[in-house]
Amino acid sequence: MARHLITSAIPYINGIKHLGNLVGSQLPADLFARYQRGRGHEVMFICATDEHGTPAELAAAKAGKPVAEYCAEMHEVQADIARRFALSFDHFGRSSSAHNQKLTQHLAVKLFENGLIEERSETQMYSPTDGRYLPDRYIEGTCPNCGFESARGDQCDNCTKQLDPVDLINPHSTISGATDLEMRETKHLYLLQSKMRAQLEKWIDTREGWPVLTTSIAKKWLTDGDGLQDRGITRDLNWGVPAQFDGAPWSGMDGKVFYVWFDAPIEYIACAMEWVDAGKGTDWERWWRTDKGAEDVTYTQFMGKDNVPFHTLSFPATILGSDEPWKLVDYIKSFNYLNYDGGQFSTSRGRGVFMDQALEILPPDYWRWWLLSHAPESSDAEFTWDNFQTSVNKDLADVLGNFVSRVTKFCRSKFGESVPEGGAYGEQEQALIADLAARIAAYQAHMDAIEVRKSAQELRAIWVTGNEYLQSAAPWAVFKEDPDRAAAIVRLSLNLIRLYALLSAPFIPDAAATLLAAVDPEDNSGQAWPTGAAVDFEALPGGAPFSVPDNLFAKIEDAQREDWQNRFAGVRD
Ligand code: 2FM
Ligand code: ZN
Repeated sequence: MARHLITSAIPYINGIKHLGNLVGSQLPADLFARYQRGRGHEVMFICATDEHGTPAELAAAKAGKPVAEYCAEMHEVQADIARRFALSFDHFGRSSSAHNQKLTQHLAVKLFENGLIEERSETQMYSPTDGRYLPDRYIEGTCPNCGFESARGDQCDNCTKQLDPVDLINPHSTISGATDLEMRETKHLYLLQSKMRAQLEKWIDTREGWPVLTTSIAKKWLTDGDGLQDRGITRDLNWGVPAQFDGAPWSGMDGKVFYVWFDAPIEYIACAMEWVDAGKGTDWERWWRTDKGAEDVTYTQFMGKDNVPFHTLSFPATILGSDEPWKLVDYIKSFNYLNYDGGQFSTSRGRGVFMDQALEILPPDYWRWWLLSHAPESSDAEFTWDNFQTSVNKDLADVLGNFVSRVTKFCRSKFGESVPEGGAYGEQEQALIADLAARIAAYQAHMDAIEVRKSAQELRAIWVTGNEYLQSAAPWAVFKEDPDRAAAIVRLSLNLIRLYALLSAPFIPDAAATLLAAVDPEDNSGQAWPTGAAVDFEALPGGAPFSVPDNLFAKIEDAQREDWQNRFAGVRD
């Protein structure tokens, strides 16, 4: 039995995520976790909310709540939606946890001791009115490049130019509006990433078979002058992991916290400690410490392409630089963007469909199927309501749903609600079985390689194969003349439903559970992953009870599609 550690990029706390976020990390990670569990492997699947940084502070201020309270509430909201999307995290943690604070501080000390963190003095905007140093995002002014009046301290949203707060014309504090800003000298901690270039390069070069999207981004950052610059890893915020603490080998960092991107990936590890606290397991170290058994673990990370530099360079720099035996990632699966109906999904502008809204319209399996079968793997992809309607109606309703309904209803009407006995599988059945064996092997190969779209295509082909078989074997036509032959066809078809339930579970877990409960209510056949010799087409023997599942997938009507199209054309309030 192999052991798989799987992490999804941890979503920011500030608001409910849209479907583009979902398909870029959490959902494909869930697909892979469910698949590996299905194959009988041991899985630790981790995700959390990313709760620090200016976006969290700003969102809390907008909601009129203390930031800790805001984060606690939003964590519950996100956890609930994740559950309703059937995301099977072994633990959904919080980057604001005590474990993450402690581990982040510990790793910073290690990096300091290894000469990879140093203190640097710099001048920074101070607001006497607000009584604090202002992080870049808390300063706005006129862009020196294009004249846009609300350019932020770090970047102009109008012309995208990267800025320094001192570049801004007429800068002011976004907290108080104060304009009496002055430059003052202050200290920050810097992570000396440039010292780690050779080590990181060597590590990346030894990663085999990584997706091109992942390695090309990593390589670009490695060779680009900007990519591996030494980075300030402290910020002037109240909310975050305090940079001054008992045992810190530096002083004068009061009122500063670590930069959100420094502590966020560390939460992958801390989350496993939270998993122990939650009573879900006892030993997190065998997943994360290579001196405690984690050398046998295969660690796979899932994320959108914008996260790749932090996972290929920054986080490995923290881990390698600590010189402690932490598990490093083995495979990074990254995704392009999903666009929404001719534009981008946007959290800040409320454009697109958000996870909670999606579930108000349809059950999770409809979304899971569409999103995964259209995952933005080799290029950006686009969600349109037309495409959604067509795919769902064809794949789920016409192909899978229809097969199940025809087989079970025909059986009930001719043989009653138990698997028909009599007859034997003939040539046509043997051909189908051989065809399916090859297809299942191909499906597994794609799933092993985390080729999400190809896996979906193969799964769909497996469903289609059953439909075609049923159509040509036509038990309704032979029933009168040869009821034994019809019995064999129906028996095989009921076994196909069981097989489909097992194979489809990673994509559409709820429908799969309904199917399994219908055709194997007593769970007589076992639920081992159907592979090789274990693909048993007589797992449901003659005489076993079954029931007709309720309409598995309803078709999306044109009127519904138009209604949703209009409803989601604008922006969310
Ligand atoms: O892009 C994002 O949504 C970040 N919150 C991802 C962080 S992933 C990790 F490093 F923790
Ligand atoms: Zn500008």
